Parts: sequence; C-alpha cells; structure tokens
Amino acid sequence: MLISIVGSGRVGSSIGFLCVSNGLDDVLFVNKTKEKAIGEALDIANAIPANSKISIRGTDDYSELVGSDIVVITASVDIYLKDRTENIGLQVKMVKDIAEKIKEYCPSAIVLMVSNPLDVLTYFFQKQSGFSRFKVIGIASSLDTSRFRYYISETLSVPQSSISNALVLGEHGDSMVPIFSGVSVGGNPLFSLIDSRDTITENVRNYWKTLRNFKSRSQFGIAKNTFDVIDAIVKKKEIVIPASIVLEGEYGEYNIAMGVPVKIDQNGVSEIQKIKLDDTEASSLKKII
Ligand code: 2OP
Repeated sequence: MLISIVGSGRVGSSIGFLCVSNGLDDVLFVNKTKEKAIGEALDIANAIPANSKISIRGTDDYSELVGSDIVVITASVDIYLKDRTENIGLQVKMVKDIAEKIKEYCPSAIVLMVSNPLDVLTYFFQKQSGFSRFKVIGIASSLDTSRFRYYISETLSVPQSSISNALVLGEHGDSMVPIFSGVSVGGNPLFSLIDSRDTITENVRNYWKTLRNFKSRSQFGIAKNTFDVIDAIVKKKEIVIPASIVLEGEYGEYNIAMGVPVKIDQNGVSEIQKIKLDDTEASSLKKII
C-alpha cells in the first residue's frame, strides 16, 4: 500500500514517522516546498525497521500520488493563532486544488482530512472530489476524545485505563460536545463522581489554546490518532472512533460534516453508529448547526 501525506510540516511528518517506524507501509510526502518533503523523508528513512521492505520519499509533484491507497491532508497555508477558522477562505481554496489532484491521480484513495477548519474542509473535499462520503474522513474528534479522557483522569486522579466510553462529537471547534452520559470510571457512572460537566467541557474545548501557551501547535496527539486509522486500514482491522463525515440524515443532519461515531475498515467508513445522548448533549449537538 502507498500512504501519501500532503503537507510535511510538524503534523504530517509526525504521522509519516509513526507509519515508517512501525513498518506500516510505503510513505510519500508531497509538500509545496520540495526540499522540506525530501528532508523529512531522508530523516525518517533512518527509522525504517531493519527487517522491513518499506520506503519513504518526498516530492512537490502531485503526479507522484499515482497508486496511493490512502491520502492524508495536513497542509496549511499559514498558522492560525486564535481560531481554527482564521484562514478559512485560503484553506478551502487549497483543499479544492488538492481535491482536483487527488481525483486525477488516485481516484480510489481513502482520504483522511487533518487540516483545519476540519469539518469545513472535510465537507468541501467531499463535494469537490465527488468521492463517496464514506471515503472522506475528518480526523479530530478522536483527538478531542483523548483530551476528554485526559481531563477526566486529571480531575478524578485516576488512570485513563479506568475510563470507559469517553467520546467527543460534533465540530472540531468551540462547540464540540463531550458526551458525559455514557462514561463510566472504574465501573461507576461519571455523573456520580463530578458535580457538573462545565469545567471539563471548557477545558476540552480550550485544550489546544492551553497547549499553545507552551508550544506553538499540537502535533503528537493528532499524529497518533491519525496513525491509528491508517494502521486499521492497512492491516484490514476495524476501528470504532468519532470522526467527521458528511451526514445525510444521520443525527438528523443533512449536508454538513461533523464528528460522529463511525466504524472504519479497509474500505473507509463502513457504519455510522447511532448512540444514546441525554437531552443536554442532543441539544448541544443541534446548536452546532
Ligand atoms: C488541535 O486541536 C489545532 O486543531 C488543532 O490541536
């Protein structure tokens, strides 16, 4: 299989590193600055396991996408500081151009969107490419879910392994909705252990801004969450995570992309799962639209 990654900045190169160091399969970086793509590939090539047949290379030439089974989009026109939607016009234009290239060179690929604003770009990619909506998957709600688990663990001083069914749905943005009602901690309902959902919700929503007080941008969490999806596709395993997909009636929504629980296998999304929400969660999800 060929795993192509458009954008070899911090996030793209970290995803490539995980794929290569785990001996997953061949990786191609496509970056507008050719030297950056080649440099990251040269560096990561030294992480290829000795017993592995895989390769990694870098280019600025989209025609090298031919044969890609998975394309991960991490490219960004510029950094944003206050809001993920800051460069929305330029990001949408960039993604429309990338969609045209992917359509031309690897029309059967599964596309994983990682660039922001995540849900908007997932939507635009799917519309622009005409790809099946089940093959265009926005990766972010699983990252938000990692953050939800982190704050539950910090708040209650428990290991993350004792937390079950933590989930964040909706927009990868200020209105994301952590789903508290199904969570249990050490077998007890989370609601029996906390007074209110407000503080954890605010902390999860603002995690990236908190992180940016110390480091310019997040990198490893999104890389690992994206790698897990690539790993499932390449190894033909099923994985159930929240991810962004264009909805056609699921959760009562049409013609938007947002994070919902999905099952992913080697062909893309195989199922959009319906889960039980309490009234607060259901109405918070509605407010996104
Ligand atoms: C994150 O949540 C900025 O979307 C990126 O870390």
